Amino acid sequence: MRILLGVTAGIAAYKVPFLIRLLVKQGAEVRCVMTPDARDFVSPLVLSTLSNHPVAIEFWNKETGAWNNHVALAEWADLLVICPCTANTLSKMASGACDNLLLAIFLSMRNKTILFPAMDLEMYRHPTVQRNMDQLEQDGSIIVPAEYGELASGLSGQGRLPEPETLLEYILGVVASKRDFLGKNVVVTAGPTYEAIDPVRFIGNHASGKMGLALAERLAERGADVLLVLGPSKCSVSHPKIKVCSVVSAEEMWNEVKNNWDSMDFGFFAAAVADYQPERASQHKIKKSAGESMALTLVKTPDILAWAGKHKKEHQRIIGFALETQNGEVNAKEKLHTKKADYMVLNVPVENESGFNAETNKVCIFGKDDRLWDIPLMQKREVANAILNVITNTQ
Ligand code: C5P
Repeated sequence: MRILLGVTAGIAAYKVPFLIRLLVKQGAEVRCVMTPDARDFVSPLVLSTLSNHPVAIEFWNKETGAWNNHVALAEWADLLVICPCTANTLSKMASGACDNLLLAIFLSMRNKTILFPAMDLEMYRHPTVQRNMDQLEQDGSIIVPAEYGELASGLSGQGRLPEPETLLEYILGVVASKRDFLGKNVVVTAGPTYEAIDPVRFIGNHASGKMGLALAERLAERGADVLLVLGPSKCSVSHPKIKVCSVVSAEEMWNEVKNNWDSMDFGFFAAAVADYQPERASQHKIKKSAGESMALTLVKTPDILAWAGKHKKEHQRIIGFALETQNGEVNAKEKLHTKKADYMVLNVPVENESGFNAETNKVCIFGKDDRLWDIPLMQKREVANAILNVITNTQ
C-alpha cells in the first residue's frame, strides 16, 4: 500500500506524525508532500524521519537540484490522503488551481484521493467552503467530514481533525474496499533456488522474486494471511500479514510448503525453482586441480507445485507460473493439466519490459476449461492485482 500524504497549513498538522507511525505499522509505504506554508505547522524533518523518505515541498529542490516530478509521484501512489486539508487548499482544488506541488499531484492522480478538512467552525460552515467540498465530492474525491469538538481557537463545534487512530480507520476502510481474500491463508513461493555444488558454489538462476513479492503484498492488502517462502532474493517485504520464511534450496522450499499446506486455501507458486540439483554437494570446496574437465551428476528436484496439485483438497486453489522461451501457450496449458493447477500464468516476453528483473510484466492466464485472460503489459504490482481479480471473479 503506497500512500502519498499531503499536509497543508493547519494547526491539526500536529497529528500527522502519529498518523504516519500508524500507517507504517500497517505495512504502508508513506511519502509526504507539504504545501510551503505547512512547514510552519509541522517540521519536514519529523515527517521525513518517520516516513523514511524525503519530504517533497517545491517542484524544484534548490538544495539537491532534484525535480519533484508530480506525475511520477501521483502514479506511484495507491492513495492520496490530504490531511489536514485547509479551506485554502479546498478552494484551490475545487477550482483546479495548480500553484504548488501538492495541487499538481492532486490533478495528476488516477487513484483515489481522501480529504480530511479541518478548520475553525465558522470557516467550516461557510457556504463557500461547503460548496467547495460538495464540488470536490462530485469530482470524485472522498471527503471525510470534520468532527465536532474542541477547536484550537478555544471554540467548540465542527471542524476538528479526527484523532490519528480514526484517520487510520478511514484510510484502511477506503483501501479495504477490496478485501476479497479476507480470512484466507495463502502460501506464495518466490525467488530463485540455489542448489549447492560445494560450500561456495551453486546452481541458480536470474529470478529476482519481484513478481512473487508483488503477489504477497497485494494478497495481504486484500485481507489474506500470507506465508511467503522466499528463495535467495535482494527484495524485502514488511507487512504485518506477511510471514516471510527464507529458504535456499528447492528441498527447503518444498519442506516449508509441505509443513503448511493443510492449512492453506491458496498456493501461488511463483518461484523459479531449479529443476535439477547436484546429486551430492561436496563437503569442501572443489579444487581446480581436480582435472581439466569435470562432470556433475544432477538429479531432479522435488516439483513443489506438482506435489501440491497431487495433495489438493476440494477447497484449495493452485496458481502456477510458467516462463517459456518457446511454445509458451502449449507448454503452459500442458503444465496446467499435468500439475493439476487451477490457473497457469504464462510470462509473455516483451523486450526489456518483462521477465526476471523488470518492474513490468506481461502475462496470459490460462484457466481450466480452456479459459484465457490476456493481461496487458503493466507494473508487476498491477499484474498481481489483475491475477487476483481473475481468481475472485471466477470462483
Ligand atoms: O519449471 P516449470 O516450468 O515446470 O515451472 C512451472 C511452475 O511449477 C512454476 O509455478 C514453478 O514455481 C513450479 N515449480 C515448482 N517446483 C519445481 C519446479 C517448478 O514448484 N521443482
